[in-house]
Amino acid sequence: MAIDTETRDRLVAAARTAALAAYAPYSGFRVGAALLFDDGAIVAGSNVENASYGLSLCAETVACAIASQAGRRGGLVAVAVLGGMTGADGAPVIAEAPVTPCGRCRQVVNELAQLGGTDPIVLCVGAREIVEIRLSALLPHAFGPANLA
Ligand code: THU
Repeated sequence: MAIDTETRDRLVAAARTAALAAYAPYSGFRVGAALLFDDGAIVAGSNVENASYGLSLCAETVACAIASQAGRRGGLVAVAVLGGMTGADGAPVIAEAPVTPCGRCRQVVNELAQLGGTDPIVLCVGAREIVEIRLSALLPHAFGPANLA
């Protein structure tokens, strides 16, 4: 499923809105992630940091957990991720460099993708450009549910 400009804008806007709810008092880096499903639904999440630092949850992982809780087990078409340091108004100032999902999040997103047999396009949003990369390019030779069948 190809995504049109309007859907793409809606997905990025959802990631931006999600980033406003980030709990990022330690890094100050607010991240928003939005997942687009084949029925048009969008599920978004933001990073949730922790005083132990290492237990912090990334936005993509939170979004996948919310989607799972809503019963979604596939149908993942696209993902948008953006982030930036908290600005004076509390909103993130979108970073120059497009945010690419961290390694752990690639694996978490892969679980949802493989369950539905899709290879979602990942929109890595920066201040001036959006880089589109297939999940399979971000995480080649992924280990997933099929390996355990
Ligand atoms: N972070 C995400 O939420 N997603 C990523 O893909 C990269 C990093 C978060 C983790 C931490 O709360 C903050 O950004 C700084 O690393």
